[in-house]
Amino acid sequence: AAPKNPGGGLFTAIAPTPRTVDNVTVPGGFTWEPIISWGDPITTEAPEFDFWNQSADAQQVQAGYNADYVTLIRNGNGGNKAVLVFNNEYTNDELMFEVGGSDELTDEQLRIIMAAHGMTVVNVRRQNKHEAWEYVRSGASNRRIHTWTPFTVDGPAAGHEAMRTSQDPTGALVLGTLNNCAGGVTPWGTVLSGEENFNQYFDTTGAPDPDQKLARYGLTSGGRGWERVEDRFHVATEPHEVNRFGWIVEVDPSDPTSTPVKHTALGRFKHEGANVIIADSGHVVAYMGDDERHDYIYKFVSKNKHRKGNGHREHNKALLSEGDLYVAKFVGDGMEDGEWDGTGSWLPLVVDGTSHVPGWTVEEVLIWTRQAADLVGPTKMDRPEDVEPNLTNGRIYAALTNNSQRVDLDEANPRLGNKHGHVIEMSEDGNDHTGLTFHWRIVLLAGDPSDPSAYFLGYDREDVSPISCPDNVAFDPQGNLWISTDGQPGTLGNSDGLYLYPVRGREAGHLQQFLSVPVGAECCGPYIDLDDNTVLAAVQHPGEVSGASPANPVSTYPYSGHGQPRPGVFHAFRPRKPRPPRGGHRG
Ligand code: FEO
Ligand code: CA
Ligand code: CA
Ligand code: CA
Repeated sequence: AAPKNPGGGLFTAIAPTPRTVDNVTVPGGFTWEPIISWGDPITTEAPEFDFWNQSADAQQVQAGYNADYVTLIRNGNGGNKAVLVFNNEYTNDELMFEVGGSDELTDEQLRIIMAAHGMTVVNVRRQNKHEAWEYVRSGASNRRIHTWTPFTVDGPAAGHEAMRTSQDPTGALVLGTLNNCAGGVTPWGTVLSGEENFNQYFDTTGAPDPDQKLARYGLTSGGRGWERVEDRFHVATEPHEVNRFGWIVEVDPSDPTSTPVKHTALGRFKHEGANVIIADSGHVVAYMGDDERHDYIYKFVSKNKHRKGNGHREHNKALLSEGDLYVAKFVGDGMEDGEWDGTGSWLPLVVDGTSHVPGWTVEEVLIWTRQAADLVGPTKMDRPEDVEPNLTNGRIYAALTNNSQRVDLDEANPRLGNKHGHVIEMSEDGNDHTGLTFHWRIVLLAGDPSDPSAYFLGYDREDVSPISCPDNVAFDPQGNLWISTDGQPGTLGNSDGLYLYPVRGREAGHLQQFLSVPVGAECCGPYIDLDDNTVLAAVQHPGEVSGASPANPVSTYPYSGHGQPRPGVFHAFRPRKPRPPRGGHRG
């Protein structure tokens, strides 16, 4: 049943949506419209999307696949113009093409897939606050970043021998960004994006791995066929290309001709994303998760200080090029107090240009950060996804999405075979983001409210929405925490969605579901500003259900008449006059 109306009256929580429903569900009084979907042309010359006649040339000027992180950059353009940036994490090859497996993909299909990865930048506009945001096909900011877009590499590991390839003897120029998952916008208006499961693109057949430098990153498979069209994805042939992925990238959406950067100072792992806050000292601090079972939470502290004002943009764009890297250790204070909480410390990996990992150089720590961190004793977490500071109070929230292999319990990872995941709040001691110690508490143990192992800060369970597998976290301008999910169809039988979760005050623990996404999809993004009537979310991998294919599509999101699922970004808003529900059908 739907929980009762929230005290804030922002919206009336929706009831959980059965996972077979092929539609977006929003609260009463709201409606939704797609802004941009996979294949939408982003230049005036670009071909219209044609599912049955795709090409790699067309895909490079059309919106990419599987949107994850979404942000809207307002840039003082007035209230009704903005720049929309979103990640294109991966592709569902089996939904793009009617093939039996990746070994059946043609070279052209593989190139289409490569062009559909990366990021998409478009101008957006709306008539007024009561209408939907629409993308501008001829927008001056429009840009696709894909597998052949040049990136410069900066920071200590740039140019290192292990970063050099036959195509790039400098070790400082990489083509492409891969598996861009969550992200964040910086105070200077650039976008950070995490290269997450990059391992899947590389064929490691025949590649020696004496130090487990491949295996520790999951580089153990035959890849997705990309090595058939480019040698660099065959590790035995081009052993260092794989070291050039797994970084945080920074993109400047204000200049579509700018060269994006891979920042080696932030370490190499399966980066979910990065979110920054400016410390009282002026240093910029980035919080980051490594999304793997039993991997770690990290932070980076810039060497140099942020400068206010547009005149210092170039200075600020270099802040993530040099600084210190730490990994988190959580210590519980026992359950006698009835809370999952305790203290924590940031264990140094690199400080003041010096490695704190015995026997390892700075460059080695940054390129093989997972193994370097293993040596200093951080806490093995239940898959750290999005880790983001709340800019209104400095507290940091980490989504631990789940961990089916959790056996050894600790107070920060307290559930066996953690099926539904949890959220940890961290508070830097003295609110000093450059400091080495913090306090923490679990604010959510996800699950159905009827599950006694679920925890909602003690709120009346009858009024709480069920939730599972928290993934992206975000804050609205008032500082409210929002959570989107990835995995509920498999754990609760419900569609994934977006939730408001107050963690302080009278409403603390009053989890309320705002929307749900179509069958097979995870909910990503999100960008939330209810005062501005703007909630943006991504529908990632709609129709990703066992047995689905172009001949048997399970979703047709965004219901634009193509008859096939097309991942993308939509706008949920309150129209001036109520509108009938739009979109798909009830399953
Ligand atoms: Fe791409 Fe960890 O989610
Ligand atoms: Ca405790
Ligand atoms: Ca994610
Ligand atoms: Ca986020």
